[in-house]
Amino acid sequence: MKCVELYRKGDHSWLAFGQDPDKPDALIDTNQIVITSGGETMLIDPGGSEIFPSMVAALTSRLPIERLRHLLISHQDPDVGSSVGLWRRVCGDNLSVHASWMWTSFLAHFDGDSAFVSVPDEGSVIRLGGREIHLLPAHYLHSPGNFSVYDPGARMLFSGDIGAALIPAHKQRSFFVENFTEHAGYMQGFHERWMGSAPARDAWVAMVSRLDIDILAPQHGLIFRGDDIKRFLDWLMTVKIGSGLGAYEKAARRSFRAKA
Ligand SMILES: [Fe+2]
Ligand SMILES: [Fe+2]
Repeated sequence: MKCVELYRKGDHSWLAFGQDPDKPDALIDTNQIVITSGGETMLIDPGGSEIFPSMVAALTSRLPIERLRHLLISHQDPDVGSSVGLWRRVCGDNLSVHASWMWTSFLAHFDGDSAFVSVPDEGSVIRLGGREIHLLPAHYLHSPGNFSVYDPGARMLFSGDIGAALIPAHKQRSFFVENFTEHAGYMQGFHERWMGSAPARDAWVAMVSRLDIDILAPQHGLIFRGDDIKRFLDWLMTVKIGSGLGAYEKAARRSFRAKA
């Protein structure tokens, strides 16, 4: 699995892991984000159980696994956190697993012994090596219980599935967006179908527009930096959310009469 350093100043860093060339083709590609501060580490969206062996190997090649104190599972999807029980087995009881109050009892189906911490709808603050890492609401984008992660010291935002792109493997030349117009083509269909609420989109864009952000990292696809962050937020405001609604009309045209 590849790794890129997104931020480093002293003992404070952000790493992104992903684009594993050995990943089975059936799996959607995911970015795993690792924040370290003051000797403590937090892993954001640790990924599915299928990628656990390559993720834990990549992580331990960069830093001691005993430092891992917090997992954040931004929402309930299997690609986000089905590996949670495997991380507990490696890290022991020192690991807190933060997730929306909506999902903790559902995520316990992945691992009933994990130490889940229920995050309220308004979000929370995780103290990592003396720094404050903020969980910000991102509900209905797409999951009804969903969080983004903001680190004001590093000016970094993890946006989860917001900003996700489905990019063919042969097009992945870098971890970063290089051509926004081309990249928007890989985001369009995902946001039209997966995102659940235009009012939530409006509220999220208004919230993050007030933050100082140097890098915006989604859970799938490429990472935005510099002017591409504003380009992305402007583009997101234009997306026609709700393309799945057409299915109701199609279904209504079907005949449901039982055959005699
Ligand atoms: Fe998702
Ligand atoms: Fe996802």
